[in-house]
Formats: sequence, structure tokens, C-alpha cells
Amino acid sequence: MTRYNRIFDNNKQWVASMKEKDADFFEKLAKDQTPDFLYIGCSDSRVPANEIMGLEPGDVFVHRNVANVVASIDLNVMSVINYAVAHLKVKHIIVCGHYNCGGVRAAMLPRDMGILNPWLRNIRDVYRLHQEELDGITDEHARYNRLVELNVQEQAVNVIKTAVVQKSYLNNQYPTVHGWVFDLKTGLLKDLNLDFAEILKNIQKIYDLTGDA
Ligand code: CO
Repeated sequence: MTRYNRIFDNNKQWVASMKEKDADFFEKLAKDQTPDFLYIGCSDSRVPANEIMGLEPGDVFVHRNVANVVASIDLNVMSVINYAVAHLKVKHIIVCGHYNCGGVRAAMLPRDMGILNPWLRNIRDVYRLHQEELDGITDEHARYNRLVELNVQEQAVNVIKTAVVQKSYLNNQYPTVHGWVFDLKTGLLKDLNLDFAEILKNIQKIYDLTGDA
């Protein structure tokens, strides 16, 4: 049997195992979703959102793209954030990058990447913003790892720049935004311990969107 055909057998086995734990699992699942978390991560096949967090279907709203970029003119990610905050009322938004990220690696290479250029520009801009620190790291791999972390940090800041997040936080004291990095070599998540309140306070000097039009 091919790997493709096996998927439907895997699916039936998964259904059986979920029902074994909770006979009504799918009846409950079909009713509604009330996830507490929005996860924005990389599309990389080695970083599956639910599995690394030990969460079940229904627990986490997920958006993934190349190198976990949050660009203000990307209708896709902005729609996800708006829906998650305004309608699902998630309590936490997590931007999760990972070491050995091909997207971040590509952004470090001085070459024309064709259709990927405008996407990778977001990451090159992160490099420019932190050029002094990054250029001070002589070991290339360490510099690459640090850019992965700084990219998570800056994409988390981009989440905090949105009106929907600022207004919800003002009215409800949630969501808070977190930055994590997944280490493929150990399977462990590293919390970058971003200071959400401090970042919000600082960026609102310029990006305060809590007023009405
Ligand atoms: Co990646």
C-alpha cells in the first residue's frame, strides 16, 4: 500500500482511538469551537502545532506560513487574528518559530528568490532592525539561530500592532501575546519570555489603534 492510501486507514484508527477515550468525542467536537489559543507558526512539516503542545482538536486555532510571518497587508493572517480575537476570544496568541527554519535561512542568503522575495523581505527587515546585534555574532549558525528568535519577537510585535488585539486587551485584558521557538533537535519549546505589557506600552507611542475612527 502506498503512503497516500494508508492515510485513510490511519484516519479510521485515529477515530477509533479517540472514541475509546471518549465515546462522544466527535459529537462534542461538531458542536462548537472554543479554543483558548491562537498559534501562528511555520509551515515546516516537522513542527506540528497541536502535537508539540500536547493539545487536542478544538484546543488551538492555527495559522501557519513560511517562517511564521505576520505582515499587515497579508489578508490571510490578519483575517485569522481578527476572527480569533473578536469572535473566538482567544486568551493567548503564540508566535512560534523554530531553529533550522528554511525560510529564515533563505532570507539570509544574498540572492534573488523570485516569488519569495516580498515574503522574505519581512525577515530581511528583521535583520536590518537588529543588524548591530546580529553582525556582532561571529558564528554563522549562532547568528542564524538568533535571527530565528528575533523574527519570532518582531512577528509577535506585529500581532500587538493590530487594532483588534489592542482594543480587546484594553477592554478585556486579553489576549496576551507570546513568542516561542521550537528546537527540532530536542523537541522542546523555548519561551522567549517577551514582556507583552512593556511591548504594548512602547509600540502604542506610534501604533496606538485603540481610538475610534
Ligand atoms: Co520554518
